[in-house]
Amino acid sequence: MTEPLLEARGIVRSFGHVQALRGADFTVNAGEIVGLIGDNGAGKSTLVKILSGADVPSAGEILVDGVPVRFENPQDARAAGIETVYQDLALAPDLDPTANLFLGREVLRPGLLGRIGWLDKAAMARQTADEVVRLGVNLEDPAAAVATLSGGQRQGVAVARAAMWAKKVIFLDEPTAALGVVQTQGVLDLIHRVRESGIAVVLISHNMQQVLEVCDRVEVLRLGERVAQLATEGTDVEQLVSAMTGGTTNREQGR
Ligand SMILES: Nc1ncnc2c1ncn2[C@@H]1O[C@H](COP(=O)(O)OP(=O)(O)OP(=O)(O)O)[C@@H](O)[C@H]1O
Ligand SMILES: [Mg+2]
Repeated sequence: MTEPLLEARGIVRSFGHVQALRGADFTVNAGEIVGLIGDNGAGKSTLVKILSGADVPSAGEILVDGVPVRFENPQDARAAGIETVYQDLALAPDLDPTANLFLGREVLRPGLLGRIGWLDKAAMARQTADEVVRLGVNLEDPAAAVATLSGGQRQGVAVARAAMWAKKVIFLDEPTAALGVVQTQGVLDLIHRVRESGIAVVLISHNMQQVLEVCDRVEVLRLGERVAQLATEGTDVEQLVSAMTGGTTNREQGR
């Protein structure tokens, strides 16, 4: 049996008296697009932060390829092949897409006599152009500051950055919430291209129709716990809503 790419077991996280996660489980398998759904406050963003190293649980286990790991910070998660696009994107608005894609990971050319090198801007711009073309992001001027881009283009740059560095999993927290129909379709196409490159995608969304269209599988969080794992095939919106709100439909697909 192949191990899940990424797995959370019994994750607990409290904020004062609020128990955001009460022993939550989560599974991502290689090559799949997983929807992570749940009502407001169910604990989705908290779980994503923990699996991205941006927050640390008080109990529970994280496993990568079946091996227990500890993520103390986002660098630890990135080193394990996990990239995250947060809802606010965390791009640097005054920099161009190339500078954003390489933020904190700039390519240096070796300096003379082993001294500190200088930034290899040409190499970075070339790689950015390749990545942008590969993912089908539509940028008229690749050197324009991110602040001047449309919401959909910015989303494309953020996903491209994650796709360029991710080796295993990309988390997308509400990537289309602020987008129009065409831009939304662009991001959904991007998600498929990322998956085709062999990277698993976790999509957090409140749009159940979209989740059913894009995802292979859905995991449902309710009150800080996983309450269902469903294949999207043969599942309808009503069943998803029922699982989120604790209705009767709970077709557990235990692995
Ligand atoms: N930094 C924090 N400080 C205090 N409480 C927090 C913090 N982060 C999350 N919470 C609480 O934890 C619970 C889960 O929040 P979380 O953001 O994970 O939910 P969510 O499922 O992402 O919801 P939404 O769909 O609204 O984004 C909520 O009750 C929230 O108020
Ligand atoms: Mg959230």
